[in-house]
Amino acid sequence: MATHKLLLLPGDGIGPEVMAEVKRLIRWMNERGIARFETEEGLVGGSCYDAHKVAVTEETMAKAKAADAVIFGAVGGPKWDGVPYDVRPEAGLLRLRKDLGLFANLRPAVCYPALADASSLKREAVEGLDIMIVRELTGGVYFGEPKTITDLGNGQKRAIDTQVYDTYEIERIARVAFELARKRRNKVTSSEKRNVMKSGVLWHEVVNQVHQREYKDVQLEHQLADACGMQLVRWPKQFDVIVCDNLFGDMLSDVASMLTGSLGMLPSASLGEVDAKTKTRRSLYEPVHGSAPDIAGKGMANPIAMIASFGMALRYSFGMIKEAEWIDQAIAGTLAKGLRTPDIASPGAATVGTQQMGEAVIKELERVASS
Ligand SMILES: NC(=O)c1ccc[n+]([C@@H]2O[C@H](COP(=O)([O-])OP(=O)(O)OC[C@H]3O[C@@H](n4cnc5c(N)ncnc54)[C@H](O)[C@@H]3O)[C@@H](O)[C@H]2O)c1
Repeated sequence: MATHKLLLLPGDGIGPEVMAEVKRLIRWMNERGIARFETEEGLVGGSCYDAHKVAVTEETMAKAKAADAVIFGAVGGPKWDGVPYDVRPEAGLLRLRKDLGLFANLRPAVCYPALADASSLKREAVEGLDIMIVRELTGGVYFGEPKTITDLGNGQKRAIDTQVYDTYEIERIARVAFELARKRRNKVTSSEKRNVMKSGVLWHEVVNQVHQREYKDVQLEHQLADACGMQLVRWPKQFDVIVCDNLFGDMLSDVASMLTGSLGMLPSASLGEVDAKTKTRRSLYEPVHGSAPDIAGKGMANPIAMIASFGMALRYSFGMIKEAEWIDQAIAGTLAKGLRTPDIASPGAATVGTQQMGEAVIKELERVASS
């Protein structure tokens, strides 16, 4: 059995609390002989700033590059609001994404039947929902140069952001989307604004070319990004995989997140290029939520987003598809039994804490794995 090296970066706020439940899961898998994980831990974000005056150390960066996958909690909080911009907690996460070349962000939005009433849409619109948003993560308007604010000297200022994409950046993210679709319901929706943006024209052209050349068997459709946002809240089940640039992906994935009920339920994966020699890829897995300072230290955070992020690591970094499915089934089973952390409970209903939810998922996992 291969040994997989994991770097755990719990971070700040509820990060360490939800990471504790992933550690419980790793222990369970190791002890049961299902896998052999070796873990190392490091500081990132505000906790790293407190210790080293940077958001991530060079030593941790080296460990991240050497690891088979990085499992990340969350960073930030009011305590660090005043620290210099380049060492703010988020800078640690951005450095990891950039230096590991994590260009593809995968955000599934799955609505568990037991939680369909927690969505802001009607049950029939979201029950059984299972879509995947693939967001380009290292290019586009968040990084393009020039990026400036200039004083025009007449009482006016001018702000410039630059939306820029090269062919190769669109090709590689399109491939990730088509490959995923082949393992799902075989449909990709590509979203841009080619009606008003040149980058949208190129995006559309390149996605079509990749499709024609390599993925003719996959159904491809195009939707303008504004229309896609509207369709996501009208009838989200029409989608399988949605692929889009950094900016539209940021917005559309947040829209999709509300379909499922709570931030505490949403996992994500960020993937780099496949190494031609080793056939492996750099990867980082993290819940979509932040450090939730309002509930940190109270033991009431929902660990499911973090646990499901680890499930994505099993699926996308280690090819452990069966075990990843066990985790999904264990989460669904635990919810079906009625266990709820406060964020997903109906008003007045009984709730459990982070640790109890983590233990319940393992108990259910034990049942699923034995059956
Ligand atoms: N990737 C990251 O590390 C990341 C992402 C988003 C925000 N942040 C940072 O986190 C801090 C707080 O930001 P925010 O409040 O806007 O977003 P947040 O995601 O931390 O919290 C938003 C709301 O959702 C709740 N929530 C979030 N995760 C939960 C969970 N697992 N269980 C139960 N409830 C949960 C919180 O209690 C809060 O009410 C800020 O410093 C922000 O910069 C970090």
